[in-house]
Amino acid sequence: MEILNVAVAGLGRIGKIHLKNLARNFTEIRVVAAMDVFDESKAIADEFNVPVFVKTFDELLAVPDLDAVVICSPTDTHADYVVKAARAGKQIFCEKPLDLSLERVQEVLEIVKEAGIKLMLGFNRRFDPEFKKIRQLVDNGSVGDPQILKITSRDPGPPPVSYIKVSGGMFLDMTIHDFDMARFISGKEVKEVFAKATVKVDPEIGEAGDVDTAVIILTFEDDSMALIDNCRKAAYGYDQRLEVFGSRGMAQAENNFSNNHKLYTEAGVSGDLPLHFFLERYDASYNQEIREFIDALVLGSEMPVDGEDGLISIAMGLAAKKSLKENRPVLMTEILDRRAN
Ligand SMILES: NC(=O)c1ccc[n+]([C@@H]2O[C@H](COP(=O)([O-])OP(=O)(O)OC[C@H]3O[C@@H](n4cnc5c(N)ncnc54)[C@H](O)[C@@H]3O)[C@@H](O)[C@H]2O)c1
Repeated sequence: MEILNVAVAGLGRIGKIHLKNLARNFTEIRVVAAMDVFDESKAIADEFNVPVFVKTFDELLAVPDLDAVVICSPTDTHADYVVKAARAGKQIFCEKPLDLSLERVQEVLEIVKEAGIKLMLGFNRRFDPEFKKIRQLVDNGSVGDPQILKITSRDPGPPPVSYIKVSGGMFLDMTIHDFDMARFISGKEVKEVFAKATVKVDPEIGEAGDVDTAVIILTFEDDSMALIDNCRKAAYGYDQRLEVFGSRGMAQAENNFSNNHKLYTEAGVSGDLPLHFFLERYDASYNQEIREFIDALVLGSEMPVDGEDGLISIAMGLAAKKSLKENRPVLMTEILDRRAN
């Protein structure tokens, strides 16, 4: 079997996870190089025995016999790096979001198509074992015809305001995962987005032009609905739950805990808090998503999350922003039809 040569760009929180999984859990690949703009990140490459560490993406692409790149650098680099990698004929895994502008995403996807390479977007929650099971239950008809999908997604605490300022706002940075989950779990496309949001966690988030607490109603093509509730801070930690209610029943995915014990006393019932944040809660999903990326490369099969999925989730984020601003439901066609003009 031919061994694939893979490189990782960006060795921050998510880059380190992907590098760890790639370096430790696969026999089909070799991590031949890593890049980051900071010298200090070389220590991370060294920790996983990556032979080459470089500080620019051009140098990374110049590494001999490189087959694929895993892009984990900040959001504002994604589009440029994907274009460069595609033009260099490399297969690509890129973290979400591809870009904050729909026009730019569309441009990038055209270049990827012309280059004839494969692109996968990092919507890791699709690979979470709990959510995958819910998807199966919807798919095999166990819940009947889905009528209401509820997604609760609350973070343990907000990121720094400096991050929020460049993140594209909560809908494009955080809710984007929930938008993708709504499509993934239901297997349906969304026709309308109605968002209400406010600032309840930190006034500085509002001063930076963003919101931190939101409720979003999605209407699917068949008039069934999804309700997403988001907050940048939950006092008890990372709250990631999901429920599908349909004509034959209901399927629920609860939070994950480091252990499931409960203590019952005369004072009440207590147990552990949910797993603290995404690195812990979605650990299994990160490994599985990279596994499916590598499998698709080895087998030459379709990527399980593609550029169009990236584009639609961004369009949904833009629809939510517009809905909030104009205080009205926004049709997806209002956002998506714009790209054709
Ligand atoms: N799928 C997920 O669950 C998930 C989770 C977190 C972050 N993300 C996405 O991953 C990306 C990175 O987020 P993070 O939380 O790891 O950020 P981070 O700030 O922890 O890490 C970013 C890394 O990129 C490096 N970097 C900065 N400029 C660079 C450049 N021009 N080229 C290459 N590297 C550069 C930084 O030195 C740092 O090591 C973001 O786009 C974010 O949206 C996805």
